[in-house]
Amino acid sequence: MEIKKVMVIGAGQMGSGIAQVHAMAGMKVILHDLKEEVVERGLAQITKNLTRQVEKNRMTEEEKQTALSQIELSTDLQNASEVDIVIEAAIENMKIKSQLFTELDQIAPAHTILATNTSSLPITEIAAATTRPEKVIGMHFMNPVPVMKLVEVIRGLATADEVYEVVRALSMKLGKTPVEVNDFPGFVSNRILMPMINEAIFTVYEGVATPEAVDEVMKLGMNHPMGPLTLADFIGLDTCLYIMETLHEGFGDDKYRPCPLLRKYVKAGWLGKKTGRGFYQYE
Ligand code: CAA
Repeated sequence: MEIKKVMVIGAGQMGSGIAQVHAMAGMKVILHDLKEEVVERGLAQITKNLTRQVEKNRMTEEEKQTALSQIELSTDLQNASEVDIVIEAAIENMKIKSQLFTELDQIAPAHTILATNTSSLPITEIAAATTRPEKVIGMHFMNPVPVMKLVEVIRGLATADEVYEVVRALSMKLGKTPVEVNDFPGFVSNRILMPMINEAIFTVYEGVATPEAVDEVMKLGMNHPMGPLTLADFIGLDTCLYIMETLHEGFGDDKYRPCPLLRKYVKAGWLGKKTGRGFYQYE
């Protein structure tokens, strides 16, 4: 099956990035969110990113306009009746995702694949909210989506081989490298990344070093493009905490215990770059 039309649910940082890469690869995209102002903001972000590509001579103005013309904005979930795949990038909450997938299952045609960009929630449980668990799959993009090459493709217990193949081919069409993983808490990416970030927070909490020193060690010593605390601020400290809690609950092992300092920052509303303050302060 060739994917011609995609619906992306959630027009935040991840959703707008996912919509952008599909439009750039020549597919029709419906960018959906609950409020008009949110989808408008998502489109503005895409326009800004594409304008930068034109300024850098990586794209012509005409190619930019063609990509933008592929994108349609939506606040009506019924639009899922016209697409070959839905990629959900909404809030990380199992109850909300299950409800959404139940609705999508009712609206979308029988051939439509229902994918989720969840960073750690079980694909198998999301799939159980539908009558088509064989067509439900994890398609986990990395932030910033237009730049990062990986798509972690997560098979739920019932995901069909044909569905996996379609998503693999789609990821390659986007210029990304798909990597197949099975459905366990945090998959591979966040099972490895988040404990590292959590440990970095513990080193600050225990007074081993300042955030700047921790980041410098990891950047210069391990060649990471960003230190773990800068990265945590970039991802969002609420998301980091949520993923650590999912790992802790899923494996029951104390090595996944979220650092109390992470909890404290989230309670304070210091969620990182998006709120202007996390381990660092932003303008
Ligand atoms: N959207 C689009 N493009 C972006 C961008 C964004 N948000 N942020 C940076 N870029 C682009 C820049 O425009 C720049 O492109 P040009 O070459 O056209 O100038 C390019 O990326 C490089 O940016 P910079 O030169 O400003 O800075 P950099 O070299 O430090 O690169 C980075 C930025 C790519 C973000 C790099 O710091 C990096 O790789 N950081 C780590 C990112 C990472 O680990 N992501 C995974 C997070 S975990 C996740 O997403 C999963 C989850 O479930 C939590």
